[in-house]
Amino acid sequence: MINIAIDGPVGSGKSSVARECAKRLGIMYVDTGAMYRACALFCIRSGIEISPENEAQIAELLTGKLTLDIRIVDDVQHVYINGEDVSADIRTHGVGMAASMVSALPSVRKFLLDKQLDLAAHNNVIMDGRDIGTVILPNADIKIFMSARPEVRAKRRYDELIAKGEKVTLSQVLIDVNKRDFQDTHRETAPLVQAPDAMFLDTSELDFEQTVEGVIELIRSLDKL
Ligand code: DC
Repeated sequence: MINIAIDGPVGSGKSSVARECAKRLGIMYVDTGAMYRACALFCIRSGIEISPENEAQIAELLTGKLTLDIRIVDDVQHVYINGEDVSADIRTHGVGMAASMVSALPSVRKFLLDKQLDLAAHNNVIMDGRDIGTVILPNADIKIFMSARPEVRAKRRYDELIAKGEKVTLSQVLIDVNKRDFQDTHRETAPLVQAPDAMFLDTSELDFEQTVEGVIELIRSLDKL
């Protein structure tokens, strides 16, 4: 099996790069952020406030009432909650902020851990997230930590949200990017941090195609595919 871990903050470009590399190499792309987003959406729909005080209730809700599935349809990862495809619904700004909050709860991380390990054990994967190189796949063949300047990341995220018809301002997105960075790096369980053996890639000035080519070359150099 080949396991590639790509971590980084919101807007670093990790998901687009990981998805494209997996597609060209014919291996599976696993977007773990989508799993946290699906849990957050399920909490929102269930009317439960996402907070540390409600952790026991949230854990009960997820383990008792949520069947979370990841399926690949035409090379694209789809996420299902109780059989419903929520791949588009989880992409809103609000769900992203809620995902950052729900992901700070240790029981939610535990709930998703086995699913992520299982996917990596049975498939050649490029998995992206916040704790892949540090917690989920500490023995990954390659670990990459991607980042970019906050202003660049906010602009990328703003463009994506506007393209989807969301009404947001660039200044609000920048504030929220900084807020999510803070939440994701300061939580106690599995915070966003570069693994000591991960390669750092600043994508602020990098061309997408060059980045993809660079990562593919790196993976091919393993001689495992
Ligand atoms: O990558 P994303 O923006 O879709 O992730 C949404 C949130 O989920 C992010 O703010 C932090 C959390 N997350 C996490 O804690 N661990 C992961 N492996 C992936 C995402």
